[in-house]
Amino acid sequence: MLIHILKILKAHLILSGELFCFLNPEKNKNSPINTSHFFLEKYSKIYFSHSFILRFRGYGVNQKKMSNATELIHSIPTDPLTGSLSVPIYQTSTYVQEAPGVNKGYDYARSNNPTRGTLEDIIAKLEKGSIGIAFGSGLAAIDAVVKLLKTGDEILAVDDIYGGAFRLFTHIYEKFGIKINYVDTTNVENVFNALTPATKLIWLETPTNPTLKISDIRAIAQVAKAHGCLLCVDNTFASPALQQPLTLGADIVVHSATKYLGGHSDLIAGLVVTKEKALGEKIKFIQNASGAILAPFDSWLVIRGIETLPLRIQQHCRNAQAVAEYLETHPAIDKVFYPGLKSHFNHGIAKKQSKGFGGIVSFTLKNDTAKAATAFVTSTKYFKLAESLGGVKSLLCHPAQMTHKSIPDEKRRAAGVADSLVRLSVGLEEVEDLIADLHQAFERTNHAATILKNQESKLVANSINR
Ligand SMILES: Cc1ncc(COP(=O)(O)O)c(C=O)c1O
Repeated sequence: MLIHILKILKAHLILSGELFCFLNPEKNKNSPINTSHFFLEKYSKIYFSHSFILRFRGYGVNQKKMSNATELIHSIPTDPLTGSLSVPIYQTSTYVQEAPGVNKGYDYARSNNPTRGTLEDIIAKLEKGSIGIAFGSGLAAIDAVVKLLKTGDEILAVDDIYGGAFRLFTHIYEKFGIKINYVDTTNVENVFNALTPATKLIWLETPTNPTLKISDIRAIAQVAKAHGCLLCVDNTFASPALQQPLTLGADIVVHSATKYLGGHSDLIAGLVVTKEKALGEKIKFIQNASGAILAPFDSWLVIRGIETLPLRIQQHCRNAQAVAEYLETHPAIDKVFYPGLKSHFNHGIAKKQSKGFGGIVSFTLKNDTAKAATAFVTSTKYFKLAESLGGVKSLLCHPAQMTHKSIPDEKRRAAGVADSLVRLSVGLEEVEDLIADLHQAFERTNHAATILKNQESKLVANSINR
């Protein structure tokens, strides 16, 4: 009898919980501990022991969260031909045909390759889009999207844009009559005000490289829809493990898969995913027509990277949060840029649209000079001085002299990339070691600056005495 009553109560709770989730889809979306969860626990506690509540959690968002990783791992197919658990690498340029035009769906490897095709299907699923298209680099992926436009069209782009995208837009496409309008997109009103009848594409990075600016994807998608233009989001910094722009209304997502998707600093790759099939087919046509495809082995490396993406990203986020909090307390620092800090301008939006804040942290020094930044970036031990980000090993760079060198100084500073700005790609080492490394680099830089200052004042004193 008692068991019977318990069963009825359990069924009642499941149904009321599900009804609550159904009525509150927004609240059920991103948060691992959401309102429906609390609702269920509150009611459960009245009747049941703690052990039952733990079992009961299986019906909530935690189960959904777990299934994301499971879904991801099992979206990587086993080979139907041999049962190979790992995706086979089809290292071929062409395919034998039975008669002209009669083939097994593959005729030439620029047009189609099964290894690349598998990666394209995986990324389309991960980003909740319809078609994925793989390229030889992130920039080739960006290039393919811009090729949707024609002379006279305009792009409205985030002002703090990756330097390579700026170079491509300004130095290649302006030549062909495509105008680029750089705007601070962290405020949706700025986007609305900067649109012109010729705007055909809005280009966001969120978070941006390197000042980690956050733009409201959902709000900007609504503006784009109302204006009848496309919204493309460069999702490189977040990765689909944290943020899925297509579910927030974007039309296109691009990735430098060189970064978190590959995850091991051992390849260059780019990906595009479109929400609509027809748009994806247009980009697939550009991929074949322009030819900047991803090679089979590199496609395989990206697939292998994706297998551990959720796990790596979790640790990147944890380490970066701790590093950002440490930096905020250091007296040599002027500003810290990390969306996970409450002090971040759009922390609230970041929290709303992504499941975590990523592994990149930037900061500026009180001594805002390229010289001070150079001294710092050459003083670390675990953080290696290198371009790129998103790998297992921690890296750091000085954008003004490295990744963002192609942006004129005034434009760079206006976009918030100060002379002393240092970008950290926080890797997967023990975070205590990383913080200790940064700490000793600050000490060394400070020590070097004191020696320099003493030398300079000695020189001044000598010249006065003379
Ligand atoms: C945000 C972002 N998008 C695109 C790219 C270009 O990617 P790739 O170097 O793979 O061409 C980069 C490279 O750093 C990047 O940081």
